[in-house]
Order: sequence, then C-alpha cells, then structure tokens
Amino acid sequence: MKVKIEVQNKKEDEIKADVLVIPLFENSFPKPYEKLNSQTEGLLYRIIKSGEFNAKLGSNTLIHLHNSEIDRILLTGLGKKSEITTEKIRQSGGKALTYLKSLGFERVVISTKELDTITSEINCKESLPTYFLEGALLNLYSFDKYKKSEEVREIKNIVLLYEEKKIPLKWVQTNVEAVNFARDIINTPANDMTPTKLAEIANSLASKKINVKILERQEAQREGMNAFLSVAKGSNEPPKFIILSYSGSKGSPLVLIGKSITFDSGGISLKPAEGMEKMKYDMAGGAVVLAIIKGASQLDLPLNLIGILPATENLPGGNATKPGDVVSAITGKTIEIVNTDAEGRLAIADAIGYAIKYFKPKAIIDIATLTGACKITFGNEAAAMMGNNSELMDKIKEASLETYERVWEMPLYEEYKDYLKSDIAHLKNSAGKDAALLTGGYFLKEFVNDVPWIHLDIASVAWNDKDKPYLSKGATGFGVRLMLRFLKELS
Ligand code: BES
Ligand code: MN
Ligand code: ZN
Repeated sequence: MKVKIEVQNKKEDEIKADVLVIPLFENSFPKPYEKLNSQTEGLLYRIIKSGEFNAKLGSNTLIHLHNSEIDRILLTGLGKKSEITTEKIRQSGGKALTYLKSLGFERVVISTKELDTITSEINCKESLPTYFLEGALLNLYSFDKYKKSEEVREIKNIVLLYEEKKIPLKWVQTNVEAVNFARDIINTPANDMTPTKLAEIANSLASKKINVKILERQEAQREGMNAFLSVAKGSNEPPKFIILSYSGSKGSPLVLIGKSITFDSGGISLKPAEGMEKMKYDMAGGAVVLAIIKGASQLDLPLNLIGILPATENLPGGNATKPGDVVSAITGKTIEIVNTDAEGRLAIADAIGYAIKYFKPKAIIDIATLTGACKITFGNEAAAMMGNNSELMDKIKEASLETYERVWEMPLYEEYKDYLKSDIAHLKNSAGKDAALLTGGYFLKEFVNDVPWIHLDIASVAWNDKDKPYLSKGATGFGVRLMLRFLKELS
C-alpha cells in the first residue's frame, strides 16, 4: 500500500491529529514547545522532569491529552544533541513509526521543531527533518505477499510539519520506493523469483527512456559467455542475460552489473544445509540494479546507465559443471572452475566482458553478494569496496556518508594474481579461504582491464538477520540509496 505523504507549513496548535510525534533531545526542556506545554497545563515538561521520558535514541512515550485537537502526543528520543547525526535522526524516525504501527494508527503528524534548533555543523545534503521522514518511510515496509491478513490497520498518511520547499519530497519518495521495490524482489523465494521472473520484472520497467533486452541461453552461447552459462548447467530454469539501458543524456554510459543468482546451492560444491534457504538473496545485486534504473528514470537523472543482470540458478544436477571443468569467457580468457560455489564471479566476468565489448563504458560498477568472507569481515555493518579508480571510489565514499550505507575500501594487491593461478587455464575461479574477499575482487579485476571499475561486495549488508531501527529483518535494498545519491551528485 502506498502511503500518502504531505508536508505542511503549519503550527502544532493549528492542526488536528490522532497522534503528534515530537522528536526531542536528551536533558532539554524544549523551548520550541513552550506553548504546547502551557496548552497541556505543563504536562510536557512534567513528563520530561519526571524522567519517565528520557529522550534516549529510540525511546518512546505516548501521552493522552484531553480538550485538545491533538488526541495524543508521542515523545520520541533523538539522544544527546551534541552527538546527533543524520543517521540517528533516521533511526529515531524508524523507531517512532515502529511503535505507532504496533498501536494501529492510520494517520501520523510529525513535528520537527527541535531538529531545527541544531546550529552546529552536521554533515548533510538535505534538511534534518528529511532524514526523520526517510527513516519513518523505510520502516513502513513489510513483506506480506505470502501471509496477508485481513483488516490490518496500516499507516496510510504521514504529515510532516515543515516548510514544503525544504523537503525534497519526490527525492525521498523515489528513493524509498526504489529500496522497497528491491526488497520485494530479494525477499521473494527462489521458486517465485526465477531468472525468467527477473526478466519479466526488467521488461515491466521498459519505457520511452528505458530499453530492455534479454539474451536467451542460445544467444549467450553465440556470444561465448561460457563462464556465465557454466553456472546455469545444473538447473532446469533457463538463464536470462538481462540488459537495461536508461538514456537520460548523450555520451558514454555508466554500467551497473548486479549479481543475479536467484538461488545459490553451491552447485556440485554443495553448500551445507544450514542457512542455505537464505541463498535466495544471492540476486540482491541484480534487484538493486533494477531499482537504481527505475529510480534514476523517475528522477530524470541526466545521464546514461546500462544495467546488466546475468541471471541463473546455481544447482547441482546431471549436467552441472564439475570442479575441475575449464570454460572460456566472452573475452577468450579460460577459467578452471575449481569450486562451483564461486559462481558469482563467473557470471559477472562475462557481464563485464559484454559491457566492454558493446558499450564503451565510462565506468563499471558491480554490486554482488560475492563472498561469505565479506560477511565474516564486516558483520552487518559495511560493504567491501574494491576498484582501480580512486576518484570514483572517493565519490562512492562520499555518497555512503550521506546515506549511511557504509563502504570500506579493501586492497587489490598485485600478489593476489598468483593466488588465482591455474596449472591448465588462464586463471582459476577460487583461491580457497585465504583472502577470499579480496581474491573474489581480484578475479573480476582480471576482466576489466583499464576501464574505471568498482566492485561492491554486499554479502555482508544485503540481508538483516534481525530488525534494525528502520530496516526490518530480511532484504535491506543496500546500495539503492547509495547509488542514487552517487548518481545525483555525478549528474
Ligand atoms: N553467494 C555466495 C556468497 C555469500 C555467502 C553471500 C553468504 C551471502 C552470504 C557466493 O557465491 C559463494 O558461495 N562464495 C564462496 C566463494 C568461495 C568458494 C571462494 C564463499 O564465500 O564461500
Ligand atoms: Mn556460491
Ligand atoms: Zn553466490
């Protein structure tokens, strides 16, 4: 369901509300609310003084009023004013809405006065209430395709009290919708999110500005994309090599490649059963690329993008690729597949080769749940970034500070080339456990040559095992807001 969002430049005493959300800092008797305090006969300050509401980040206290156009006030904590960041504001928005959702409210009014009292330098591109709204909206997502219950009360309307022109409403809404679009695709189990289904979704994005082309197995064969196709051999689902192009300007495109393994069992190098169900999210990169293209088009960003999703399942089977098999990629490079579970890089290597062959890319960015080692390294806190162009990486870092989808640069030491040496082919697809996160990146580097390129390993962050303040359990859509911000600053 789509939430209606309004920004109204009204005062708290001019509105009617079932619930008015008031974000507050710790240890302060909020000056901007003196009038509301006296209207409530001192209730507001009394509850702060009592310590019942301490304004710690994410804390919530609901007060009922009488004789007022405002039925209830929700005091919600922003934490210490001296420690405030845009991310904490987002989290506070998320926590407040979680609370209100659980109480069954349908219309929520948000007051922003305390946020406007911040005078210290805080690193941000938008006005502070924008972040509260973003956290609130991201929080409203739920994945209930398979568990629809009737008569659930949902939040249908959010009213933000602030100056209209200071909230980039379209920007926030497009970002949130794009993130949620990706989350839906990623959360959908592999029986319903096949390569064919991904191709259908890509086709549904086709418009005046977005062109979609799908290569079937045979066409991929003709292109010599045997690295990609080797992954598909064990599966009965037909692979799809999906290409989208968004044209918003003239000039050479930026190519985005998303890993799109709709289920990764490991193939003959089978993964352990425990947790294998989560390998439906091995197409998170592809979903994120679809969402970026969708968002960029809705925002009319003045640039050209190509999105490539080499989509397939990775299953064992009578026809599956066997450890030790040698295949050749579109570039002619031969690869010894020593581990069929290192499949993402095979698919992406051909996507990179295809991009260079046909699109003269200005740069290539691949987004992939590439290695378990990434998750071991970062937990759930950051994506790994590798690349051959520091200027581009700096821009991604800058965007990531804004969206708090953190990236951490990792090295691609020349020495890793040796790790990937094969006795019988140009290289092998896995170097085993040592530096697995980095040799994964290095493998891809061998296919990009001199094209400016960035690899984002999102295996760590694409999925939340538990609820976070504004991103519930399950798919996170990590990378969508990051890349839209990056593209916006670029254009
Ligand atoms: N899709 C996995 C990586 C992954 C693991 C993503 C856990 C998210 C959570 C990838 O295809 C894989 O299996 N990688 C192997 C590479 C190894 C064989 C070099 C891995 O990480 O074990
Ligand atoms: Mn794998
Ligand atoms: Zn995988």
